[in-house]
Amino acid sequence: MKTVCLLGSPRVRGNSAVLATRYCETAEKLGSEIQTFTLNKLSYRGCQACMTCKTKLDKCVLEDDLTHVLDAIREADVLVITTPVYFGEVSGQFKGFIDRTFSYLAADHSSRLSPGKKLVFIQTQAEADQSKFADIFPRYESAFKWYGFAETYLVRACGVYDKGEAEAREDLMRLAEETAEKVMA
Ligand SMILES: Cc1cc2nc3c(=O)[nH]c(=O)nc-3n(C[C@H](O)[C@H](O)[C@H](O)COP(=O)(O)O)c2cc1C
Repeated sequence: MKTVCLLGSPRVRGNSAVLATRYCETAEKLGSEIQTFTLNKLSYRGCQACMTCKTKLDKCVLEDDLTHVLDAIREADVLVITTPVYFGEVSGQFKGFIDRTFSYLAADHSSRLSPGKKLVFIQTQAEADQSKFADIFPRYESAFKWYGFAETYLVRACGVYDKGEAEAREDLMRLAEETAEKVMA
């Protein structure tokens, strides 16, 4: 089992990163190989809408630090993606990545990815009300279903603002662990 983990927050060991780390440590103990990328440390552009991936190539024509990430996801069984909520949306780093996954769709809008991958989506937000920003996951989940992901899991931390707040919440850390156990079962 191969897991690719993308950290979508600029914060080092921030709330989403800590939950992702707990997930990955658990999955590794259960036998998964883990490859982690910190999007904020990579240099990449958003989708240029050049349509080369629909007309001439079966992948994104841009060659930058995201090229290797997009290739690694093709080989992975599990994708873990994390984002803090910024102004009611995903982080800019996360959105830049998502737009480039447009290259996973062929001209007829069928997926170029092998079917059956699993998605783990980790979302953190300061707002404690769970009904706020509950729309984010279903919107991105539908894109990944289109790409052929068979199973999707949400690890959501509400009411966490400062660094260390998610780590101090045993319920959240346990949720990250339990999700890894389910994915690896
Ligand atoms: C630029 C910026 C915008 C934010 N916007 C929101 C927001 O709209 N709603 C919210 O609940 N929290 C918001 N937050 C708080 C973060 O979502 C929260 O601190 C989260 O736990 C950060 O996760 P991280 O430590 O993984 O980066 C914002 C934080 C920043 C820096």
